[in-house]
Amino acid sequence: MHKHIAVLAGDGIGPEITVQGLKVLEAVAQKYGHSFHCRHAPFGAGAYFSHGASFPEQTRLVCDEADAIIKGPVGLSVAQMELIPLPERPEKAAILPLRERYDTFANFRPIVLPAQLSCFSPLKQEVVGQGIDIMMIRELVGGIYFGEKIEGRETHNEYAKDICVYNYGDVNRIAHVAFKEAMRRNKRLANVHKANILATSRFWNSVVEEVKQEYPEVDYTSILVDNAAFQLIKNPTQFNGVMLLENMQGDILTDQAGGILGSLGLMPSACMGPDKGYVEPAHGSAPDIAGKNIANPYSMIGSVAFMLEKCFGLQQEADEIWQALAGILVAGFRTADLAHKGLSKKMILSTAGFGEKVVELIVKN
Ligand code: IPM
Ligand code: MN
Repeated sequence: MHKHIAVLAGDGIGPEITVQGLKVLEAVAQKYGHSFHCRHAPFGAGAYFSHGASFPEQTRLVCDEADAIIKGPVGLSVAQMELIPLPERPEKAAILPLRERYDTFANFRPIVLPAQLSCFSPLKQEVVGQGIDIMMIRELVGGIYFGEKIEGRETHNEYAKDICVYNYGDVNRIAHVAFKEAMRRNKRLANVHKANILATSRFWNSVVEEVKQEYPEVDYTSILVDNAAFQLIKNPTQFNGVMLLENMQGDILTDQAGGILGSLGLMPSACMGPDKGYVEPAHGSAPDIAGKNIANPYSMIGSVAFMLEKCFGLQQEADEIWQALAGILVAGFRTADLAHKGLSKKMILSTAGFGEKVVELIVKN
């Protein structure tokens, strides 16, 4: 297989973890006889300073021409971010436009913690039980994120409004993605919403429940978002399977789920549209540890696996990476963020050291 990939390494630790992701990609390409042609392009806060825009036109063109996009985290220190005018900051001027441009409506965030790694979680061992394995699927291009934003002023009164809109097609397509994913997994799906208050949630549920008729084998539950937040902490394994969420609720609960894993460093993600997708670690750019070769590249390497699987349909290649990632941790190796006190130095891997180990396992297997 020959594919073109746009690489947006981003800010902070982005470039150094991206190097590891690409190293692993190259190892897979060699082993399976694929060729991946990568083109780097500026994106994020650094791009604003070097090119005058956080999603420069040249980067848009590189992405347009690519079959898939690898994106690193973006954002610099608070002081540097304050130098960027609000509308030009990467959240608004790069990330949302990237999602909109490729209509990447389906965001996959796997929450995986095998029982052997339950020590990472701040939850008690017995709560993690036999292990957590949830695929959170978040709608990514609709709802309150993309509705009209109004900041108004009337005599003696100022106000702001964020409009939340979902139409039939928006909900229908993400519901199909979620039910299909449930069918590939353990056939369980929990639909998260706030239908006791929000009209958009009541509409969301009516469409999801219509789609559900086409997947009679899926064991379906529906749960209010506040209760879901509570249950995720109290008994997360009840959600093993797929959780379906709208954009804003999904933003919040996926971070909470990262907390359950003990680190957002363990959360790769894929954002899929009708023609192409982009993959990214779900964590931030950690500018405080950038350039020190101590960042955990797990989420970036996992994102590369996700690209192979979701964008190119290369399941076996992806599985090799997933197995290597899990194997390294199960063997007791840790990056600095996951290391516990007293852990022997030789078990602590640098950013590059971790990438090296993944490559070694792929070459050897
Ligand atoms: C995420 C992030 C983004 C979001 C921000 C950076 C715009 O928090 O991908 O979860 O809110 O979607
Ligand atoms: Mn978020």
